[in-house]
Amino acid sequence: MMVCEYKPGLEGIPAAQSSISYVDGQKGILEYRGIRIEELAEKSTFLETAYLLIWGELPTKEELKAFEHEVRYHRRIKYRIRDMMKCFPESGHPMDALQASAAALGLFYSLRDLHNPVYIRDSVVRLIATIPTMVAAFQLMRKGNDPVRPRDDLDYSANFLYMLDEKEPDPLMARVFDICLILQVEHTMNASTFSARVTASTLTDPYAVVASAVGTLGGPLHGGANEEVIQMLEKIGSVENVRPYIEDCLQRKAKIMGFGHRVYKVKDPRATILQGLAEQLFEKFGHDKFYDIAQEMERVVEEKLGSKGIYPNIDFYSGLVYRKMGIPTDLFTPIFAIARVAGWLAHWKEQLAENRIFRPTQVYNGLHEVTYTPIDKR
Ligand code: ACO
Repeated sequence: MMVCEYKPGLEGIPAAQSSISYVDGQKGILEYRGIRIEELAEKSTFLETAYLLIWGELPTKEELKAFEHEVRYHRRIKYRIRDMMKCFPESGHPMDALQASAAALGLFYSLRDLHNPVYIRDSVVRLIATIPTMVAAFQLMRKGNDPVRPRDDLDYSANFLYMLDEKEPDPLMARVFDICLILQVEHTMNASTFSARVTASTLTDPYAVVASAVGTLGGPLHGGANEEVIQMLEKIGSVENVRPYIEDCLQRKAKIMGFGHRVYKVKDPRATILQGLAEQLFEKFGHDKFYDIAQEMERVVEEKLGSKGIYPNIDFYSGLVYRKMGIPTDLFTPIFAIARVAGWLAHWKEQLAENRIFRPTQVYNGLHEVTYTPIDKR
């Protein structure tokens, strides 16, 4: 057996062969199935992009219509899931609520017919359709309100925004939100996708696959960073405080949230698009002083850490966009999950096609031949 050098965080070690997405971290390029994200953000919709990722090609008009139709009419969640969610503590984090609810879906659909394309499609539709409903339901229920029924006449993104507060969203908000989902849907072999593939490799059901990935996405070094970015901007409070804040972080060797990436050594292309979307929202709905703070942060971090390749990542501007939409900070990561579920499912499908259970090795650095000490002698 070939013995490899141990790499913390598995940096640079391929965990799979994949044709789903491609990233060039030096040039700042991200492609889904070969198509640049800039083009998809301009011309596609979230559901069309999800289809592209999962089935490998852009859908025809009829295929897209059928997929949109299926997703639209599977948005409702079972009463029993809703009742279970009602028992969740309102102080609990919505990511934990989402992880538990996604796993609970598996209780209702326990049949595992992993080689049947109909089973694959039904599972994909069910997860993409119901995850937003579960996020919105928990948001309303933790405030003591009843969840809102999905509206079949609204598109995917408009319906989600509607379910959050029972108000039909402005069309620009809905389109910007849809683009955000396109930008967050997939990103090669990151931590949560790796989690999804490891779980998938055991041939468990797709609900367990998604639940494990949701749990991984929630951490502050991964999807949870967008929440921490807003908390950091609140703490900084003004443009004048930016430089001292960053200097203090660097002195304490603390990470500045929303900056840095394992792969990108230039500005994350998704951050560039999100920044443009944030500006569109500020133009229509009014300026946000946090944006001035964010821009100053970008300048100072580039000055101090640009030589190390530390630039804004996707999480730096996504929070500002969601904040302008009036979305509560702790829903930013669940929204990331709403998007990323389609990427995880693309990897689930790809993993199943050539599955081998993940079973890496380790470098043992513990003891050997230790004798057992009886409890009264310890
Ligand atoms: N602030 C300050 N310094 C940083 C930052 C940062 N945000 N990110 C990296 N660095 C520095 C490190 O201190 C290290 O410096 P050194 O070589 O002098 O020790 C160097 O850059 C390399 O950093 P690592 O932590 O080794 O990079 P790694 O690839 O392991 O981590 C990560 C990448 C986790 C994203 C990191 O940049 C980070 O913690 N960023 C802040 C959290 C964040 O924004 N996460 C979201 C990432 S995007 C996503 O998951 C959707």
